[in-house]
Amino acid sequence: MYASFRSIGAYIPEEIRSNEWFVNRMDTTDEWITKRTGINERRIASTDENTSDLGAKASKIAIERAGLENSEIDLIICATISPDYLCMPSTACLIADKLGIKNIMAFDISAACTGFIYALQIAQAFIQSGIKKNVLIIGAEKLSSIIDYTDRTTCMLFGDGAGAAVISATDNKDEAITDIQCSADGSFKDLLLTPGVQSEEASFMQMKGNETFKIAVRTLTNDVKKLMEKNKFENKDVDLFIPHQANYRIIKAVGDALKFEDEQKVLTVDKYGNTSSASIPMAINDCYENGKLKSGDMMLLDAFGGGLTWGSALVKFAGK
Ligand code: UT7
Repeated sequence: MYASFRSIGAYIPEEIRSNEWFVNRMDTTDEWITKRTGINERRIASTDENTSDLGAKASKIAIERAGLENSEIDLIICATISPDYLCMPSTACLIADKLGIKNIMAFDISAACTGFIYALQIAQAFIQSGIKKNVLIIGAEKLSSIIDYTDRTTCMLFGDGAGAAVISATDNKDEAITDIQCSADGSFKDLLLTPGVQSEEASFMQMKGNETFKIAVRTLTNDVKKLMEKNKFENKDVDLFIPHQANYRIIKAVGDALKFEDEQKVLTVDKYGNTSSASIPMAINDCYENGKLKSGDMMLLDAFGGGLTWGSALVKFAGK
């Protein structure tokens, strides 16, 4: 049995927060934010919308596009670093409840911005082992709830949103996900963290931006090269290069080092900012909705985030 990427969906919160919002509140400029990050605006969830609400809305679309009933989903995995509740219940359980799905396994994973790729590999393993048939994977974040809006070095980078995909069993090898590789190195734990229960400080995200930036470019470039070589892929075999959307300069540096053409590179960081685990599925959904992603297209995904964690994947889009 093979795992195939059947559908994509996303939920983009309504409120748009422009760079001007930050310029009016702290010592920064639109020019600095745009030049250093490529971000013009990001979306912010409303006060009565939690991460599970964003995730449930994205999931409904993904399940519908997969041509399935909610009752046919047999596993839900939610990647998030901004769950509704601190330790329990998991956001996946809350999403299951909002979708009216009961009596199946549902759990969260914590792999920061790499969360969606981690969830994809977990889904693939459950399917290939024959244990599950239709796995709903979600990247959902209300990062505005863990951002220190007095820290000008990080607060303008992040936004809210959610993306979801259905990964299904198939016996057609042609539709299968080609390969996924995920890694972690906890010795870099101090680069990106939320002190939370370990500290008296509030549970806000802290980041050593410049160091993270340099490691991200180096690690992602090597990781993608390794994946491409392992699978004997050339750039022309990839239709869309869909990287985690943290910073335009990281995407450009990695894309240039790997020699991808501009038409292959997908960019959404300008309008959504960094939405951590949601950034890749939101970007895939953008491509799907604007007709850039078609059935049978080969996607190359890569991500890097707190942990440190990183990963990349070669995934054929097996949706309609
Ligand atoms: O998604 C998970 C992974 N995350 C990432 O990969 C993010 C990685 N990091 C980044 O995206 C970038 O490092 C930042 C956008 C956060 C910062 O860009 P940078 O080019 O690394 O700048 P920097 O931290 O080296 O700071 C350059 C200068 C500093 O001033 P001095 O020391 O040169 O006088 C900062 O104080 O820019 C200053 N600065 C600002 N100036 C205006 C920092 N934040 C701001 C700001 N507005 N908001």
